[in-house]
Amino acid sequence: MHFQWYPGHMTKARRMMQENIKLIDLIIELVDARIPLSSRNPDIDELGKNKARLILLNKADLAEDALNDEWISYFKEKGYSAVKVNSKKGGGIKSIQSVIQEACREKTERDRKRGILNRPVRAMVAGIPNVGKSTFINALAGKACAKTGNKPGVTKGKQWIRLNKNVELLDTPGILWPKFEDQEVGLKLAFIGSIKDEILQTEELAAELVKFMKSVYPGVLEEKYDILAVEDIYGCLRDIAESRHCLVRGSELDTGKAAAILLDDFRSGRLGRITLERP
Ligand code: G4P
Repeated sequence: MHFQWYPGHMTKARRMMQENIKLIDLIIELVDARIPLSSRNPDIDELGKNKARLILLNKADLAEDALNDEWISYFKEKGYSAVKVNSKKGGGIKSIQSVIQEACREKTERDRKRGILNRPVRAMVAGIPNVGKSTFINALAGKACAKTGNKPGVTKGKQWIRLNKNVELLDTPGILWPKFEDQEVGLKLAFIGSIKDEILQTEELAAELVKFMKSVYPGVLEEKYDILAVEDIYGCLRDIAESRHCLVRGSELDTGKAAAILLDDFRSGRLGRITLERP
């Protein structure tokens, strides 16, 4: 299975981030809790050096909670501030303001020694497409955001959202592209739906997911689809097709449809909370 990426987008997004990075104190980097490493962009450490760093394990609701905690410890050991959040439902969002202050404590101290008091922290939200940047910004800034937009005469272009007297957020999220020269990384990104499925790849991708589930979460597919113990991978897709009455021409099993159902169930959490990557 081969995955492609688009260096053209990458260059433009990177340039945009480089331009804006001068203006900010803190990078809030969103990663997907199901694949906290594969959903990072390795360049961000270079782009963000000398900046305070906060990693948000977003979509924590879709990943195993014990593993979320392990990942938080992992990132903290590496020197990042880190918290798990569910931007969609607002879980963990309330604590963010204090986490931001904590992440920028060194900078605030430095400012204070130089006699600079009460300068708000300026933060930028960054992450790969679909990781939940806009959802997070809305959850955090919802009302503040609307307020700025409604004011007459607000200049277009760079917009700062003033969350409170202590924090300002750059309204343009920094879009980073995942590196997937490593095909394992590409596969995991495809599982969570970050790379668009090609019609032809759906079955192959679902087969890989079955393989993973069989070894790491045994019994889950059997229970969910009411099928016999998974022996061979494509047999499992046929069983799911049968159990869900996916048929073509009235009688043939439609494994393509079964594959799409499986991927969709996984992505939306209907197979339960599943983490694809462990620290
Ligand atoms: P982006 O700006 O980084 O590209 O991501 P965006 O906020 O557009 O979010 C991408 C998708 O991820 C959205 O789903 C969004 O609802 C979902 N999402 C964001 N944060 C979370 C989270 O913490 N938990 C869960 N479960 N989902 C999250 P969508 O399918 O595009 O739309 P919809 O299903 O919400 O309508």
